[in-house]
Amino acid sequence: MRRGPNIILIIGVALFFSLLGKAHETTQSCVNALENLNRHIGRNFFETRRDFARYAEAFPATVLRDLSLMSPDGHWIDAGSGEGFAIQDFFNGKIFDVEAVLKNAQPSSWRPRRLHLDSKTLIESSKLLHGKRPGERGYVTGVTFKMERTPPQIDKLTVHTGQFFEDIPTHSFAPADVITDLYGVMSYSPRVDEGLRSYHQLLKEGGRAYVFIGDYLESPELSGSRRLVQHGIAGWDAPYAQSRVRKKNGQTVSLLEWTMDLPGFNARLEYNQVDPSPRFGVVPGIIQRHTLVLEKTNQQATIPHLRLLNADEGKPPLRIFEEVSE
Ligand SMILES: C[S@@+](CC[C@H](N)C(=O)[O-])C[C@H]1O[C@@H](n2cnc3c(N)ncnc32)[C@H](O)[C@@H]1O
Repeated sequence: MRRGPNIILIIGVALFFSLLGKAHETTQSCVNALENLNRHIGRNFFETRRDFARYAEAFPATVLRDLSLMSPDGHWIDAGSGEGFAIQDFFNGKIFDVEAVLKNAQPSSWRPRRLHLDSKTLIESSKLLHGKRPGERGYVTGVTFKMERTPPQIDKLTVHTGQFFEDIPTHSFAPADVITDLYGVMSYSPRVDEGLRSYHQLLKEGGRAYVFIGDYLESPELSGSRRLVQHGIAGWDAPYAQSRVRKKNGQTVSLLEWTMDLPGFNARLEYNQVDPSPRFGVVPGIIQRHTLVLEKTNQQATIPHLRLLNADEGKPPLRIFEEVSE
């Protein structure tokens, strides 16, 4: 009779230590995932040399429109600026050749896909931009964890290197009209919630962050993409949309859906359509090359905290997060 409470006590203690062990294991594997992803960024083994013309091709024309409308004391932050060719080009006499970009969007024997760009906005914005002397074009800040070359010395251009964006206090930057992120911070960060909190703090009210997401395929079964087959999320061939977040309410959503639901931003997707070449077997499907536009709507926003549970070594990586208490 007297043994009962002892057994319960022993079972209780064993259970407590087993739960403690499990919690420790989870914490350890989260630390490992975070360190692995930081190392992945540190290796810098990805495309880092896109110039302004490549940005104009990847992003919707609204990015160029916003940059062209920026006042001389406006501010563009490129979050994940790589070798900084795009931000350097911004101060050239000729920033980019709009005719060449539009020509390159047309199918040719060299590149048989057709890329639909908003030529009217591109041409108008390019005219506006080129009508301003470099000194009248606003301030630009690039942020990159690594940069192989010496940052260009240009008035109104600053480059932060050697630090993760999430670790740079937001007061080190001037408020931003535009933030671009072309396979940059949001695509690689193990701490997207911190990055997004910084984006929100840095943007002026009405300012926009443009986060490049990647392709949505209308006929995914024909694409032959290994990732698409592996992860089976219909249509998306874009790690940001295939990454997941386990929410506190038990629901699992894609990282893209999670981001689009955040308070403090008006979120929408914009895309450039790509008609792929029949040679690649993707007919009759169409590719939509998406960018997430986050427009800041109000000053106060509480962005939930996330913890990275897992990430692969993709370029960019697939990540799994869970919401946690602060
Ligand atoms: C794939 S490259 C893209 C570079 C450039 N946007 C381009 O298209 O050429 C990714 C860039 O983001 C930077 N990056 C990724 N995560 C970062 C972070 N958390 N903090 C600072 N830089 C980061 C890398 O150092 C690198 O410069």
